[in-house]
Amino acid sequence: MLYAIETSGITKRFEEVTAVNNISISVKPGELFGLLGPNGAGKTTLINMLSTMVEPSGGNALVWGHDVVKEADLVRQNIGVVFQDTTLDDRLTGRENLDLHGRLYGLDGKTRKKRTQDVLSLVELTERADFIVKTYSGGMMRRLEIARGLMHHPKVLFLDEPTLGLDPQTRLHIWEYIHKLNKEEGVTILLTTHYMEEADRLCDRIAIIDYGQIVALDTPQDLKNMLGGDVITLGLEDPGDVGRLCSSYQKDGCANIVEGKQNEVFITVNNGERQIPHILALASQAGIPIISVSLRKPTLDDVFIHYTGRAIRDKEVSGMEEVGYKMRSRRK
Ligand SMILES: Nc1ncnc2c1ncn2[C@@H]1O[C@H](COP(=O)(O)OP(=O)(O)OP(=O)(O)O)[C@@H](O)[C@H]1O
Ligand SMILES: [Mg+2]
Repeated sequence: MLYAIETSGITKRFEEVTAVNNISISVKPGELFGLLGPNGAGKTTLINMLSTMVEPSGGNALVWGHDVVKEADLVRQNIGVVFQDTTLDDRLTGRENLDLHGRLYGLDGKTRKKRTQDVLSLVELTERADFIVKTYSGGMMRRLEIARGLMHHPKVLFLDEPTLGLDPQTRLHIWEYIHKLNKEEGVTILLTTHYMEEADRLCDRIAIIDYGQIVALDTPQDLKNMLGGDVITLGLEDPGDVGRLCSSYQKDGCANIVEGKQNEVFITVNNGERQIPHILALASQAGIPIISVSLRKPTLDDVFIHYTGRAIRDKEVSGMEEVGYKMRSRRK
């Protein structure tokens, strides 16, 4: 087995939408791989196919070497899943939820007890283990779900929006667990998110998906490097100077790209912070007054805009309206 997850042209069509359209990805054992995309991009549908919950309409996928359709049972034995919507029984305690899951996976009593203790301590819920889940905060429920997904020592863990709706502090906490699981316990993780920062901070590689297709796939750094560098924006007192300043940067050759718009000049360079003094010196030599300077490092959002012409945030808002009814009705 070369890959922990390998899909080949995997596709899922619902009546009126192609939710996942011909996706081919290979995730190595031990990798932390992210699917980043706006609402409705097809992230959950892809995870549902890989975790054998939904049958593909086309293409195929292997998880830990097993076909998700023909060897669904073998796939299930090797994976843990944390679904986007909570699936805990809130009338049971945390410990009971874990025990129940262990029973479903056929773990014997002694193993269940030991494993329950281990996973509870991993997500720091030991003290709350015997309270019913109804009394848990959102972050505690999410941690319990991660613990549950780990009960049977899965090789591959699927996390669908692990920090959706949590406060920034809890989110950081969960990032730590995910990182620890991956780096210390070697669990291969596929996570979906529409938080740029989450994907950037956690993932070894990221596939940005939109309308069911991959628009970019690489390490977070290489995705950002692809955009050609950092952008320095200069504000000019006189819009009439913009053309002259642009041509002095072009002549100098310090920039990868130079653009002028209204009373601003945008200069794309490598190592922006080190270039600012030189950029300002050139303006001063040309006798052009600068009234503001800003430096921006590219984000994954910029990568997304580059490929799709719009921000992930924009899509989230308008996309929610478009598919809002469908999503609500689907999610009970
Ligand atoms: N069971 C279904 N029946 C019909 N359409 C569906 C079904 N499940 C998903 N879809 C549609 O498939 C598309 C992809 O949905 P999916 O839930 O996979 O997106 P997502 O990237 O997980 O979005 P989110 O960020 O909101 O979780 C959407 O247009 C959705 O409405
Ligand atoms: Mg989803």
